[in-house]
Amino acid sequence: MQVYLNGEFLEQKKAAVSVADRGFVFGDGVYEVTRIINGKFFQEEEHLVRLDEGLKGLKINLNDELRHSIPEISRDLIKRNGHTEGEATVYLQITRGAAFPRTHTFPDPEVPPTIYLSSGPFKPHKELHERGVEVITVPDVRWTRCNLKTINLLPNTLAKQQAKEAGANSAIMIRDGVVTESPNANIFGVKDGKLFTFPASNYILNGITRRVVIDIANSNNIPLITEPVRQDDLYDMDELFFTGTTTDIQPIIKVDGRKIGSGKPGEVVRSIQKEYNNRLYG
Ligand code: PDD
Repeated sequence: MQVYLNGEFLEQKKAAVSVADRGFVFGDGVYEVTRIINGKFFQEEEHLVRLDEGLKGLKINLNDELRHSIPEISRDLIKRNGHTEGEATVYLQITRGAAFPRTHTFPDPEVPPTIYLSSGPFKPHKELHERGVEVITVPDVRWTRCNLKTINLLPNTLAKQQAKEAGANSAIMIRDGVVTESPNANIFGVKDGKLFTFPASNYILNGITRRVVIDIANSNNIPLITEPVRQDDLYDMDELFFTGTTTDIQPIIKVDGRKIGSGKPGEVVRSIQKEYNNRLYG
């Protein structure tokens, strides 16, 4: 398996970054995960625009030529790895680069950012899409710039691990009494035929899949309310589901041991799954 690192394609085992890399030392970087179906990148431009926003948010300067070559590098990589057939993902990470000695302020003079891409085969979680998942609620202890897709994922990894240890599939994060999102997906609720999701703000990552689902809702005249849902109201939702690049559309059937709706995936999530799959695989 090959990866791309700073201008070169290398065997994954031979690829190495400096111990002075600010991604390693400070978590100073951004990333994207993109889905590829038979060589076709899903919502690629949207991922790249969000990447630009993340770089801007962290004030990482990536030269234009390199930035514009990302689609070509990604295509070259999936070809080299034989991921042009079937399902795959590309992981892309950009950090502020390597600088020694360690200082919190940005390297002066500036150093070139570290750019890394890998690709891997992907297997959709079909049983979970079919059956639905059981989750727990956890406090959202993240910073208040969750709109930036940074590699600082400790609150996310700790929450996922807590869910795993509780025998649950994932977690729903709660900030100030309201539902924000999951550690690696956005969340939607359905009540009386209306769709609810947290507004795009600095408290959530505005998921690319979330945006596709909003578009599906709009084109199917499903009323959409982008307002925070209180944790107290979460358990009374008729339906709940997660959305994300590697999650797809995943029904949630139990939260903190309490059944959501009938305890089975509902009609709205089923219709959104169908339409989403049409767009993803179409
Ligand atoms: N995670 N919210 C968070 C906190 C996420 O990390 C993700 C994606 C999403 C969904 O965004 P999108 O629809 O653009 O994938 C929401 C990626 C897949 C990951 O960390 O692996």
